[in-house]
Amino acid sequence: MGEQLPLLDPSKESDAERRARAARRIEELRELIRLHDYYYYVEAQPRISDEEYDALFAELKRLEAEFPELVTPDSPTQRVGGAPLEGFAHVEHRVPMLSLDNTYSREEVIEFDRRVRELLGGQPYRYVAELKYDGVSVSLHYRDGAFVLGASRGDGFVGDDITQNVRTIRGLPLRVRPVEYKGVPLRSFEVRGEVYVLIEDFLRLNREREEAGERPFANPRNFAAGTLKLLDPREVARRPLRLVCYYLLSDEVELEWQSENLRLLRQLGFPTDQHWQLCHTLEEVFAYIDRWERERDRLPFQIDGIVLKVDSLRQQQLLGTVARAPRWAIAYKYQAKRATTVLRDIVLQVGRTGIVVPVAELEPVFLAGSTISRATLHNADYIAALDLRIGDTVIVEKGGEVIPKITGVVLERRPPGAQPYEFPAVCPCPNQQPLYRPPGEVHYYCDHPECPWQIRRRIEHFASRRAMDIEGMGERVVDQLVSLGFLRNIADIYDLFRYREQLVRLERWGERSVDNLLQAIERSKQRPYPRVLFALGIRYVGEETAKLLAQAFPSIEQLARASVEELTAVYGIGERTADSVVRYFRDPRNREILERLRRAGLQFELSKPTARTARGAFAGKTFVLTGELASMTREQARQEIEARGGRVSSSVSRRTDVLIVGARPGSKLQEAQKLGIPTWDEEEFLRHLRESPVEQ
Ligand code: IVH
Repeated sequence: MGEQLPLLDPSKESDAERRARAARRIEELRELIRLHDYYYYVEAQPRISDEEYDALFAELKRLEAEFPELVTPDSPTQRVGGAPLEGFAHVEHRVPMLSLDNTYSREEVIEFDRRVRELLGGQPYRYVAELKYDGVSVSLHYRDGAFVLGASRGDGFVGDDITQNVRTIRGLPLRVRPVEYKGVPLRSFEVRGEVYVLIEDFLRLNREREEAGERPFANPRNFAAGTLKLLDPREVARRPLRLVCYYLLSDEVELEWQSENLRLLRQLGFPTDQHWQLCHTLEEVFAYIDRWERERDRLPFQIDGIVLKVDSLRQQQLLGTVARAPRWAIAYKYQAKRATTVLRDIVLQVGRTGIVVPVAELEPVFLAGSTISRATLHNADYIAALDLRIGDTVIVEKGGEVIPKITGVVLERRPPGAQPYEFPAVCPCPNQQPLYRPPGEVHYYCDHPECPWQIRRRIEHFASRRAMDIEGMGERVVDQLVSLGFLRNIADIYDLFRYREQLVRLERWGERSVDNLLQAIERSKQRPYPRVLFALGIRYVGEETAKLLAQAFPSIEQLARASVEELTAVYGIGERTADSVVRYFRDPRNREILERLRRAGLQFELSKPTARTARGAFAGKTFVLTGELASMTREQARQEIEARGGRVSSSVSRRTDVLIVGARPGSKLQEAQKLGIPTWDEEEFLRHLRESPVEQ
């Protein structure tokens, strides 16, 4: 990370000098953030941690708050979303946004190819095969290198101006890289692409919605479409939309090929799909179709087919368009896959907020790449609408939906005497708490404070990767430790070390795995305050909200004291969240847990990694350790380095900044010497540690 602002003595500087220095640093930060957005969203290869990225962003925000006249619309901070809109203005598409003819059969693909061949009258041609992302299409306008307008497809001729929503999408360049193409600088053009959501994000958000008692989205496509239609861009900014672009329309430069289009977009810094392929024969086309039909379950996003396009843009023009669909392209759609199986049972799952969700237990059945033995049934109404009965043969589908779904019952195979399903009156927890359904809600809830199901979920959430990231503390381990009474709440995690001997003797455990877990728990104490806040599992406090709260209330005491009014005064915090936060801190059981977490050493205030470590020798650097240190274990050394903003990696590479060499070093030393990487002996390491104290 570059140089930090407070290096000079500010008292000797004039206002103008300070402002000029801020302006330079602001530009530098914007460039850095744009670059890291590019690594993350376009190359899908982040080069810095989330925390480092957040620190850059926070520094930029701070400087822009101090010098508001330096804020420009293309600053990365301007993605957070502006004030809510009354409605969307209309935008006429200069070039209509066409749809594609869909096919589901090979015959139709052969037929399509025959027509292309005929119409081209013997000219040679080839195709580009691309994945068909299941999202919503958008049109993006750039003028003088800056993003100026985003529009939805609408009816293909007139769409909505959704600029404010689109600009919140992180992968979208707000400013394009200067690229000269065929001698012409490309500055003003239109890009067409698809807005979508990663399956992982979709599932996570749907889980959160379900936990909050809100209706989950039916599929990733609905999620993307629903989000772009929101009138509050701040809400859009909180949803992790993605963008993939598939072509560029330019008056400035003449392009010849669709494949060239894809390469150029990438060069300009737009996210494009990397799975496209040139096909010279129909065999190659079918091989592509088959390959992605087999492998589509492994993609992190949903596709509903592939798109086949004639590669030459001149030939595309020749072929033209009929009835709003081009004759030069076709979509081959994958069928939703169906199977039938037997509904063995319906069990209730209790979420961490007490929400009760019925889940179907199925006779395992293989469908589209995976074995399915469970499927969510959402709520009592869903079961009633399908009239599902235990023992029924049901139809399971996987296709438009990522999650397998029960779509019907084969009535002819209903076993005689099967009874309509009655939703249980009590929670499956040992407390047998009566379930209640708040008026107007579709879900039932269990509100017993010691319901072990809720406890499991809360602990799982706390330990999960995006929260405290305690490696090795997944569903199975939590389940075991809760049932054996080692864990009754999240604070118990930090007392586990007291039970090391008992844990070692448990089934499936041993010295090594217990020590690994205990070390992972120890490491989790370094997670920054916003992640701790998220991990606590306060209702409605997701990752983004946790960051907002942490910025506004930089310590947990301040947050615990905040009133609903003070909370709602924070940009992005609504009444519902504020209310939930206040209720959380008012509860004496939560206060006791927080006190124990504090004593365990969790981060309960916003550290200032940039200011704190700016002068340190560790900030933002990657270290590798070799040999034995006399003064501490490897684990302690790692913690010391991480506490100062450094990273420890296990092997030497070009990205290593320093190798720390203890007694009897291994082959890492030679590797480092070969690559010219600096080394520190123990004495030097200790000196740097002393010189970069960790301020709390
Ligand atoms: S080309 C006329 N390429 O599919 C050209 N579209 O069913 C149409 N889509 O509206 C766009 N991935 O929303 C194209 N690689 C891709 C695509 C793609 C998804 C969507 C797009 C389009 C719809 C047509």
